[in-house]
Amino acid sequence: MISDSGISVIGSGYVGTVVAACMAKIGHEVVGVEINPEKLAMLQGGSSYFYEPGLDELLRDGVDNGNLTFTDDYELAMANSEVVFLCVDTPPGEGGHPDITNVTAAAKSIGMAMHSPHVIVTKSTVPVGSGNWLTSTIENVLGDDVDSDVFSVVSNPEFLREGSAVRDFLHPERIVLGGTHPEAVDAVAAAYDPILKQAFPGGRATDHPILVKTDRSTAETIKYAANAFLATKISFINEIAEICEWVNADVKEVARAMGLDSRISAQFLQAGVGWGGSCFGKDVEALAATARAHGQDPSLLEATMAVNFKQRHRVITKLQQHLRPLRGSRVALLGLAFKPETDDVRDAPAITIAKELANRGAIVRAYDPLVKQIPELPDLQTSSDPYAVVQSADALVLVTEWDELRHLDFEEVASKMRGNLVIDGRNVFDPARVRAAGLTYEGMGTGHEITPRASDAW
Ligand code: UDX
Repeated sequence: MISDSGISVIGSGYVGTVVAACMAKIGHEVVGVEINPEKLAMLQGGSSYFYEPGLDELLRDGVDNGNLTFTDDYELAMANSEVVFLCVDTPPGEGGHPDITNVTAAAKSIGMAMHSPHVIVTKSTVPVGSGNWLTSTIENVLGDDVDSDVFSVVSNPEFLREGSAVRDFLHPERIVLGGTHPEAVDAVAAAYDPILKQAFPGGRATDHPILVKTDRSTAETIKYAANAFLATKISFINEIAEICEWVNADVKEVARAMGLDSRISAQFLQAGVGWGGSCFGKDVEALAATARAHGQDPSLLEATMAVNFKQRHRVITKLQQHLRPLRGSRVALLGLAFKPETDDVRDAPAITIAKELANRGAIVRAYDPLVKQIPELPDLQTSSDPYAVVQSADALVLVTEWDELRHLDFEEVASKMRGNLVIDGRNVFDPARVRAAGLTYEGMGTGHEITPRASDAW
């Protein structure tokens, strides 16, 4: 149905912009669609409106060499492409289900602009079954007299991590394609061919991804299951971290030794304030909602979410235990983004912690290398220097493990603070260095200096 073709990308958010820039880098002619005029103007000028390492360089190259253009015109984009990546956002909606308003609007616009065969590729994370629903939505727009074989919907979930999205796109471990027409799936596989063969400047011969071809519902479920598993792995180690505090064990050592077993693997076993971001919470919630909608009881997924919520509150509890009372205490938060190397604060643990502290009367100041303000927290004071933020603080809480924060000068920190409490919400500081500066160290499941009891000595 489809020959070697141009590509269009509908929606230039975190995912769509990376897809567009990377597809242009591997040699395709790409048209990106963005309906927000300010964002569109920036993209047309070759720069992104959010921070993602390596992305601006690709955008500039693509725009300069003519492989990459941006428009708000669906007709133009569709006329110049046969493979259409649907990358609009699906924010959290009612009852745990994602809000698919933007997907619906995009599907209608796609239908209206479709005058020749196309493959529609869903990258947006949509509830399982959305491929069928999207097909019907587009068919409704096309009307009865149009041959419905003129298009086919293929699910191609994305596994990009913010902060390493460009690398993850160009060097993935697997590419999942789910569809009902084999030739449509093959057309999408062909678009990925340079990545599958790592045949592009910077491709790595050792990095050949595995192509998984399956049906649409399975592909859609793979995305949810993968994210739910990773989130559960983090909540699992966080629950172990809490047990470690009660039995005087060190969760870092527990996780390290667990991870040496290749059946477990060391990744996603870092205990701390828990996960945030735009995906894990929304996707675990959506999968649980799907289970409930089918009369099932997704107790494991619900426990994953409950443990994660508890982690944020464990920071408050620790502060309360040490500062007594919290009201009037000064707390310095280091790191606001939901993880390092991004300016994204969606569902960031720092927001919950800052809000809760403010509710309890603490005075909060924050530092983040990229995030300078948070719309949800208009009164939050920020500073462009971590050492200014700890000035006169009773406690310091590390929330995001930015590289520059891992290597704080604790002598300087101690000289500026009024109190002496350091809560390491990501278990990245060396407790001995913190204590050597005269500060009190509290980790998440690592906080105690383990001394053998007399009865342990034989
Ligand atoms: C995630 C998935 O990894 C990605 O495949 C999917 O496409 C989108 O969701 P992302 O949200 O960008 O990516 O970040 P990720 O690196 O997965 O981290 C998510 C959160 O988990 C962060 O808040 C991070 O700090 C936290 N985390 C991660 C831990 O608390 N412990 C860990 O061991 C790993």
